Amino acid sequence: MTEDTFRQTSASFPADFLWGAATAAHQIEGNNVSSDWWLRENSPDRDVPDRSGDAADSFHRFATDIALVAELGLQCYRFSIEWARIEPEPGRFSIAMRDHYGRMIDCCRQAGVTPVITLHHFTNPLWFARRGGWQWSGAPAAFAAYVSFLSPILTDVPWICTINEPNLLAGAPNDARTGAALPSLPAPDPRATAHIVAAHRRARTILSAASNAATGWTIAAQAYQAAPGFEDRLADFRHPREDLFLEVSREDDFVGVQAYLRTFVDETGPLPVADDVETTQMGWEYFPPALGIAVRHAHSIAHRPVLVTENGIATADDTRRIDYTAEALLGLHAAMADGIDVRGYIHWSLLDNYEWGSYRPTFGLVAWDPITFARTPKPSAHWLGNLARTGVLELPAPAGAVR
Ligand code: BGC
Repeated sequence: MTEDTFRQTSASFPADFLWGAATAAHQIEGNNVSSDWWLRENSPDRDVPDRSGDAADSFHRFATDIALVAELGLQCYRFSIEWARIEPEPGRFSIAMRDHYGRMIDCCRQAGVTPVITLHHFTNPLWFARRGGWQWSGAPAAFAAYVSFLSPILTDVPWICTINEPNLLAGAPNDARTGAALPSLPAPDPRATAHIVAAHRRARTILSAASNAATGWTIAAQAYQAAPGFEDRLADFRHPREDLFLEVSREDDFVGVQAYLRTFVDETGPLPVADDVETTQMGWEYFPPALGIAVRHAHSIAHRPVLVTENGIATADDTRRIDYTAEALLGLHAAMADGIDVRGYIHWSLLDNYEWGSYRPTFGLVAWDPITFARTPKPSAHWLGNLARTGVLELPAPAGAVR
């Protein structure tokens, strides 16, 4: 970003820009008992502090959540379909569960909210994990069977994300992100990578015959920066972790970009976050320009229209959420002004949620009561909703700028 960008005080987004908020099934629905994560959380030797339990009970309260999206003024809701509910045992597909997600899609439409559907968001059916998860040679066919079964409810969905953060999924077999994992991203496993790429392609083939949706996948895109002297080798480090997946996006209708942070890399790998910088509840550096940097990089590899499918901050200070989001959006706007085709911005997350092992980090625009499940939008929810209505980003004071 340039000095001039930092001095900007407002930015206008296109009238048809899609504004929204995202969630993922396991993180908000509750009682996802046939999944690998449920087993992990409920094992006697569990390696995460919290169980997901009832989560935000969105499995039953989805209509409230979708109504909230609409009331706030947001235009789209990105949510995921839970494979473990659709196919709790191999080959045993549940029509009733498919109907449930079909009702969510209908509910969006009735509320005037565009559904953006994710078909796989980190969790796997337990039976799939027991067969080896994404390492299993049968994984692409199993995923294709699940997508085929779902296709009747996806006919009129405009945006479909096949697999969330395949680049993290491939690095953590049978597993997903835990809070600590991201800064020290392992290199994805080549076998899992190959199966995940094949599953994505098969899903796209099925969906192109069954629906008019724009299809793509959503990449965990970081603002990587080389430590001095490591510039040439950064590309080698980044390729298996990110660029390989962005290259697959070249075949797709769009590339979903999810960006939160920056990571410095030297010959030893990713460096720990410096002691003297502001950090979020995740321990990640507070670095809003990550979004613009990641979008520029993703577009330079994928050459496809971009949909920002996640960006946000874990903080207990909601004013910091507004600051972070405003500055991230300013960087996004600058990328668009430079000609990058960005179709929308979907904030992570609509709700505080189960952050892969812990309820402590709060990413939500909306809080909820753990006993009554009553939802309470935070000021940031109204701020983002207002931005969605006007399309004009007014920056909070000169502050938003360099910190
Ligand atoms: C994931 C979400 C997660 C968020 C914050 C993204 O990588 O898709 O499931 O909660 O980041 O860690």
